[in-house]
Amino acid sequence: MRQRIFIHDVVARDGFQIEPHWIPTERKIEIIDLLSQSGVAKIEATSFVSAKAVPNLRDAAEVMAGIRRDPNVIYVALVPNARGAERALAANVDEIVLVVSASETHNRANVRRSVGESFAGFREVLDVLRGSRTGVTGAVATAFGCPFEGVVPESQVLDCVARYAELGVSGVTFGDTTGVANPTQVDRMVRAVAERFADLPLALHFHNTRGMGLANVVAGLSAGVVRFEGCLGGLGGCPFAPGATGNVCTEDVVHMLECMGYDTGVDLDKLLAASRRLREIVGHELPGQVVKAGKSSDVHPAPAEA
Ligand code: COA
Ligand code: ZN
Repeated sequence: MRQRIFIHDVVARDGFQIEPHWIPTERKIEIIDLLSQSGVAKIEATSFVSAKAVPNLRDAAEVMAGIRRDPNVIYVALVPNARGAERALAANVDEIVLVVSASETHNRANVRRSVGESFAGFREVLDVLRGSRTGVTGAVATAFGCPFEGVVPESQVLDCVARYAELGVSGVTFGDTTGVANPTQVDRMVRAVAERFADLPLALHFHNTRGMGLANVVAGLSAGVVRFEGCLGGLGGCPFAPGATGNVCTEDVVHMLECMGYDTGVDLDKLLAASRRLREIVGHELPGQVVKAGKSSDVHPAPAEA
């Protein structure tokens, strides 16, 4: 039997948050609905953050209310504080993802508080969620390096995981916010987490800023990870990290994994169609490659003989 890999698409959050132009709510809903039909396991549909910080996602509640939910898909929203949790709960999200950066400087740039203050605030978030059926996972941004501090000590990253585990999250995601991770580092970090937190599912979130994205996915796979995040079309980036660019492209990840013999549960043709629609909606070229080149199984008619 082929090994199952779980694909999470985050374009509606990580992708849309950095687009310079307003993307109408109906267009966001359209992309999320197309993703729902493609077979991805999770969709990060929006974030409940300050409208001043991320103007493009100020319609989070309307987006959640407008999408057609597939019962097989988990709909996630990013939440930085208790106010965000209240809004996410009112919008009936399936799961919230908390976010803290492993580096103090990026955490301050992103959410204007220290790492310690973020974790203290997460206790309030859990108070808000008590009694609800909303799940909680924890993301660690700048887990492989920080645009302000450079190298982030592994102990600092593992400390964030320990604090999330203490809070009782159901999984942790490592974010390579500015695409600095390399495959050797990914292998080492994944094994370090597995050694100390064997029961905590780990997801990986790579940006392809320096062309190492797919190599890092393969490194994660070899080290035992089965959950990967990507953005349709390869859109994406953190507005609070200089030089941030797109995530690994979901359809390129799916294409690679299926070619390698893994079962992603995703209908690649539907994903490619969604990516073409996304290109029309954002109105500019996207970094995704398979949508331009075609699948490796596509063949062309032989040239006519002279
Ligand atoms: N949703 C909506 N509004 C929120 C909010 C939330 N979760 N949290 C705070 N606000 C509002 C407050 O009501 C206040 O509004 P006002 O100015 O109209 O009174 C304003 O935002 C400032 O609130 P404050 O608690 O002082 O927050 P802050 O200015 O210290 O900013 C964050 C902290 C976390 C709210 C803000 O930095 C943020 O939203 N960051 C988003 C980070 C992000 O999405 N990064 C990309 C993904 S990793
Ligand atoms: Zn990201």
